[in-house]
Amino acid sequence: MTGLESIQRTSGRVFGLILLLCLFAPPALPDSSGPLPPPDSATFEALTGESPEEDHSAWDRFYQKKNHAFGKDAIGFLRENLEIIPRGRAFVPAMGEGRNAIFLARNGFKVEGVDLSQIAVDRALQEAKAKKTSIKGIVGDLFEYPYPKEAYDFILVSLFFSERLLPKFKSALKKGGYIMFYLKRDNGRPASSLVPDDFRVKGGALKASLQEFETLIYREYIDQNMDMVAILARKK
Ligand SMILES: C[S@@+](CC[C@H](N)C(=O)[O-])C[C@H]1O[C@@H](n2cnc3c(N)ncnc32)[C@H](O)[C@@H]1O
Repeated sequence: MTGLESIQRTSGRVFGLILLLCLFAPPALPDSSGPLPPPDSATFEALTGESPEEDHSAWDRFYQKKNHAFGKDAIGFLRENLEIIPRGRAFVPAMGEGRNAIFLARNGFKVEGVDLSQIAVDRALQEAKAKKTSIKGIVGDLFEYPYPKEAYDFILVSLFFSERLLPKFKSALKKGGYIMFYLKRDNGRPASSLVPDDFRVKGGALKASLQEFETLIYREYIDQNMDMVAILARKK
């Protein structure tokens, strides 16, 4: 092979290589790795928007910044009334990092929890494992969720509320099943904490929404400096 032929072959290979790189190189993406906005109450109050996609990433960003955002322990209202509630299949919508779901699993319930945030669900599953128990954790939007009919013995809803979801929760509960809500009371003042306005209920409204149920316990009280409404009711 002459020197010229050797140069032509080599430059042919180099050209081929460049062509391949151009064909398979990924397109340039816009840089989305900017710093996250600092936590402030406005961020939390923007967390119940119209779009599940926005809510999903807003809650993920929220949990990215905070561990045990709503505390490590199960809510007092659940702990105090645990013995009244018969064991069975429990559903925990909007379970967050799983403090209540894990508590129920450790106390003999078979638990399924759903939350919009992947980060929160991952943490709940890890925590359950660390506490040597198990829960089923599902990342999902409760407005789209395929609720089974008359399937659960107990539904626990803490710091999350939507009037639109009530019929779904009610029909997912077995006859004779128990439902518990632990919610912030809408006292007319602007929401100032982590719980957005949409999750609050007016005093009395929750009880009225469950009027076909037997109310076992109903409370409006101050718990951990928050104005709360809590109910434990049974489906007749
Ligand atoms: C205030 S936190 C309460 C978390 C938990 N229940 C507790 O008491 O620790 C509200 C939770 O609702 C979840 N969430 C909000 N919208 C949701 C939706 N459409 N579907 C499922 N989860 C949702 C959020 O990701 C967040 O974890």
